[in-house]
Amino acid sequence: MAPGINNRVILGMLGVAFVVYTAFVYTSGTAAEHLAPMNDNERAGAQVYQDYNCVACHQFYGLGGYMGPDLTNVISKRGDAYARAFITAGTATMPNLGLAEDEIDAVVAYLAFVDKTGTYPAENYEVQWYGFVAQEDDPQ
Ligand code: HEC
Repeated sequence: MAPGINNRVILGMLGVAFVVYTAFVYTSGTAAEHLAPMNDNERAGAQVYQDYNCVACHQFYGLGGYMGPDLTNVISKRGDAYARAFITAGTATMPNLGLAEDEIDAVVAYLAFVDKTGTYPAENYEVQWYGFVAQEDDPQ
C-alpha cells in the first residue's frame, strides 16, 4: 500500500471521530445546559468576589489561594446565614473586609450560584465510556 493512502485513511478516521464527538458534545454532552444563567445579582456578586480579591485566600474547585477554605459548596454544606456571618464580621483569621449590605447579598447569591455548578471534591463519580466524569447527582 502506498504511504499516501495510509495517511489519508488515518486523517479521514480522525475527521470522522472529531465530527461524531463534536456532535455528541453539542447535543447531550454537557450538564451545564441544565443550569440557569447567572442573574444580575449573582453577576454583581462575582464582581464583588473579584473586587475584594476573595480568591487570594479562597478556592473554587480547589483553585485559588490556600489561606481560607474552599467555597465551592459552602452554601449547601453550611447555609447562607453561616457564610453571611463570616463575610459580615470576619474572624481571627479572615479579615472583616467592610462590605456594604448589598455587596454581601450579592456575593452570597454568587456563592449559591457556584454551589449549583457541581460538587467539590467530587463524590460518587463514575467515568463514562466516552470519557466524561459523571456524579450520581448530575442531571445528565
Ligand atoms: C486574607 C484572606 C481572606 C480573604 C481576602 C477572604 N477570606 Fe474568607 N476566610 C478566610 C479564612 C482564613 C477563613 C477561615 C476563618 C475561620 O475559620 O475562622 C475564611 C472563611 C470564610 C468563609 C466560611 C467558610 C467555611 O467553610 O467555614 C466564607 C463564606 C468566606 N470566608 C467568604 C469570603 C468572601 C466572600 C471573601 C471576599 C469578599 C473572603 N472570604 C475574603 C480568609 C480570607
